[in-house]
Amino acid sequence: MLTAIYPGSFDPITNGHLDVIGRASRLADRLVVGVLLNSNKNPLFPIEERVEMTREAVKGFKNIEVTHFDGLLVGFAERESAQIIVRGIRAISDYEFELQMALMNRRLKPDLETVFLMASEQYSFVSSRIIKEVARLGGDIGGLVPPHVESHLRARFQRS
Ligand code: PNS
Repeated sequence: MLTAIYPGSFDPITNGHLDVIGRASRLADRLVVGVLLNSNKNPLFPIEERVEMTREAVKGFKNIEVTHFDGLLVGFAERESAQIIVRGIRAISDYEFELQMALMNRRLKPDLETVFLMASEQYSFVSSRIIKEVARLGGDIGGLVPPHVESHLRARFQRS
């Protein structure tokens, strides 16, 4: 039984994340999406909302669970008995930081393998950060995030 974890801030989940999730779910028997609780990126959405939006987005998949985690990623992998960490790569600019994380995680837990999956090129410019900025300024983000995430963003920016 091959268990993979897909960690991230998911603030919020985008169609780029979902593209990677779809690919990873075909490779692993069980895929656990881990939403980081205490992201130092100062998230827009609280952890409960990030988990809820992510769960809603993956409800069509059978072998996917969504949970939150705190502390080291290798600790989360251990708790879930995962053999693989999945990370998505959009462009070569992502690679340097991802390599650094992968090598540190390998040092911390040598038997845990990081696997990079290439997101579809149609999402190569999509990031949660840029989605939030465009949504905050009233731009169209249709087709780049699931419809329910669009509603959360709209509601969030109407309040502020
Ligand atoms: O979606 P993100 O914000 O790029 O995801 C980053 C994440 C969650 C993968 C990374 O911040 C992480 O693993 N945090 C947990 C703390 C940890 O283990 N740090 C050392 C890894 S080098």
